Amino acid sequence: MNRYQQELEKRKKANLLRTLPTASDQIDFYSNDYLGFSRSDQLYKKIAEAYTEREPKRTGSTGSRLLSGNSIFAESIEKSIADYHRSDSSLVFSSGYNANVGLLSALGKRGITFISDELIHASMIDGIRLSHAEKLKFKHNDLEDLENKLSKTEGEKIVLVESVYSMDGDIAQLESILEICSRHKAKLIVDEAHAIGVFGQHGEGMCANYGIQNDVLATVVTFGKAMGVHGAAVLGKKWLKEYLVNFARSFIYSTAPSDHQLASIKCAYELNQESTGLRTNLLSTIDYFISKRSELSNLNWLNSNTQIQSLIIPGNDQVIAAANSLHGQGINILPIRSPSVPAGMERLRISLHSFNTRDEIDLLFSVIKKWNQKK
Ligand SMILES: Cc1ncc(COP(=O)(O)O)c(C=O)c1O
Repeated sequence: MNRYQQELEKRKKANLLRTLPTASDQIDFYSNDYLGFSRSDQLYKKIAEAYTEREPKRTGSTGSRLLSGNSIFAESIEKSIADYHRSDSSLVFSSGYNANVGLLSALGKRGITFISDELIHASMIDGIRLSHAEKLKFKHNDLEDLENKLSKTEGEKIVLVESVYSMDGDIAQLESILEICSRHKAKLIVDEAHAIGVFGQHGEGMCANYGIQNDVLATVVTFGKAMGVHGAAVLGKKWLKEYLVNFARSFIYSTAPSDHQLASIKCAYELNQESTGLRTNLLSTIDYFISKRSELSNLNWLNSNTQIQSLIIPGNDQVIAAANSLHGQGINILPIRSPSVPAGMERLRISLHSFNTRDEIDLLFSVIKKWNQKK
């Protein structure tokens, strides 16, 4: 057995092997399709039409944006994304992972310190790793600890947060964080992957909602979650876009998004603009879930007011068993195991959607209740 196979064996023994599940038609409490865009017939048809109308016809973009892959179409979409978020500019990346890696590896020069919330997404962590910057973490959503770390750090500082945290579902206090950053002459970058589509009057995310999008150094919006398609954009000042076009390696050395991907992003934004009703539905589904949650307050729920809810069930075997009992009742929920989360914080991560019905939520709670009584 070679060393790689040995590592796989170790994972198998610890019940931690990652495998690829096939899509399921069970009740969806697991996907990031918060507004149901990905299953929307309307969006599917809109994209097909927009793509078919494209001239000149080409399936692939044929090269990096810096070579043969640029188009007036790509530039016009970037302009409309920037306008939507009331930001000066936007630069599209093929995914959120690539956006964060490109952004942070390009900005992280020697002499800069990234100070990140301890729960930031792996794509930001990888961007930091690829940079030449120093790195520090502050305790999750703990502004005192942030202030403490900022005051002890010399030189240029960039603080990294998510507006809605992907695992805990809680919200960053962006206005206070921004105020602390400006007192310490630090810059702020906000990943809005789980906020776009859900928060803001037109689903623009939290930064535009608070009107701080031009006070932060950059905002990252991703299109694979509530927007139901694929890709991402970095929003910021015009100089930032120019800088990334010159220094973000995941942008420079990668084939540009295809016209189909661009048409999908354009149509998803159009649908997002019209989807106030879906957002209202989702927010009232969240309220309903929270009221049901309080009936089972003896369980260890994380305190989240968003579409991401977590029930802590310590132990990998235990959390897998709980997820399996839900699957047995036709409910799809992801067990999140350690080391994806710290040991002891294993959890069921429950994603709520605008299309989840009250009956589905009632069923979910009755299965959780029964599972809890039996265990
Ligand atoms: C907070 C956050 N940022 C970035 C990403 C990466 O986005 P994408 O899936 O488009 O690569 C994710 C996806 O899981 C995420 O949760």
